[in-house]
Amino acid sequence: MYGYKPITLQSEASYIENLCDRIEASLDAGYMPVDAFQDDRVFRAEMERIFTRSWVFVAHETELPRSGDFVSRRIGLDQVIVTRTSDGAFNVLLNHCRHRGTPVCMEDAGNSTHFRCPYHGWTYKNNGDFVGAPELSMAYGERPDRKIWGLIRAPRVESVYGFIFACLSEDGPDLKAYLGGAGWMFDAIFGLHPDGLRVLAPPERFIIRADWKSGAENFSGDSYHVGTAHYSATLSGFAAGDLRNNGDKADGFLFENGHSFIGHRFPEWFGPEFEFWGYPPELREQFDLSRLDDVQLHMLKTVPPTIGTIFPNFSFVRFPSAASPGEAPSAYTDVRVWQPLEPGVMEMWHWQLEYAFMPEEYQRTSYIAGQFGFGAGGMIEEDDTVLWEGIARFARSPLARRDAIPLHYKQKRSDPDPDWKGPGQHFTTTYGEYMQEGFWRRWVKDIRGADGGGSHNG
Ligand code: FES
Ligand code: FE
Repeated sequence: MYGYKPITLQSEASYIENLCDRIEASLDAGYMPVDAFQDDRVFRAEMERIFTRSWVFVAHETELPRSGDFVSRRIGLDQVIVTRTSDGAFNVLLNHCRHRGTPVCMEDAGNSTHFRCPYHGWTYKNNGDFVGAPELSMAYGERPDRKIWGLIRAPRVESVYGFIFACLSEDGPDLKAYLGGAGWMFDAIFGLHPDGLRVLAPPERFIIRADWKSGAENFSGDSYHVGTAHYSATLSGFAAGDLRNNGDKADGFLFENGHSFIGHRFPEWFGPEFEFWGYPPELREQFDLSRLDDVQLHMLKTVPPTIGTIFPNFSFVRFPSAASPGEAPSAYTDVRVWQPLEPGVMEMWHWQLEYAFMPEEYQRTSYIAGQFGFGAGGMIEEDDTVLWEGIARFARSPLARRDAIPLHYKQKRSDPDPDWKGPGQHFTTTYGEYMQEGFWRRWVKDIRGADGGGSHNG
């Protein structure tokens, strides 16, 4: 009925290839095949072709302030330990003992110079080197080579503004090249003070029965849902203004590699005091803007970036909101990871940060404002998560699959801003879904494995 052929039994590889064909043809026509949002074969392909090749956010450096600190995280389905060693380096180690594969670390976070496997006692330094094992000479005669039998390390680990990203592939661009124009956006969002940002509390996490891409795609450019899904924030006085009809009060910033951001024209929308996200003037004065170019400065004054996604599963939000109805809004900064667990199920990880130089009182207020919005029980968070769960259910619908019923990706398009002097493309509206399209086109490119082998190029 929509020009699609129903899906029939096929081999897994040809199903994936066919799906990529259908997504590309659908995007050209303004549709999306629903099975992209939940399918066992899709999930396996994503784990193998996206998460073992992409730069994935694992921790912020301020979560590991001391030598020996560690946190447990995941890259796709791989459990990893992020450690800080005495030389100050950050290591990302696969949390599986080399003897039989048992996790060597069962804690979410802590401080330790070594990890001792609970099964037979093989022991590793916190840089991953094998140290020894019980009954070494009796059981083995010679000590296993400490370099060969160490914990598997992510071959590449890099930080930007304290955000630690790891890549499980040796090939492909470095983090700076991977971020591309989105790195310019990081400068404007996270690079405003030499003391940097700090994480305000350990990350929250909770399970959502929705596909990880529903969150990543939403944050990549869906300003359209805000006026409906989050209208209660307007009615309750939580939002600093009326959230309806905001697609034309928002700009889109589309970069290479599937990264994109929304900016909201707060001064025009909420009032002139909302330049720079509405940070109070006495705090704004302490920003060091000397490294920003004119385009970035103009953006922060007129349309500060509010929401964005770094492909595949790292997202950002900074919004001014009241810590309680009637109070003056505070700008809160929230980063999140849409952690895939299984087809149609993700674990949402949520961190709140603030500039370290800001007074404790402001950090506390911004934390509370962020919790009301995007905390595990936050009103914005709860609005979104229940809606995304419905998408995964639709993707499993036998009827939708039998008839290959597509989703609508066909908003009215507008041309990119011809006068834009910054990197990437700039749009003066978020209607058009071009940023969501950017996310999906990158997804197809990775799933097709066009770069071959373990490489991952932009
Ligand atoms: Fe770790 Fe045996 S599985 S020591
Ligand atoms: Fe939302």
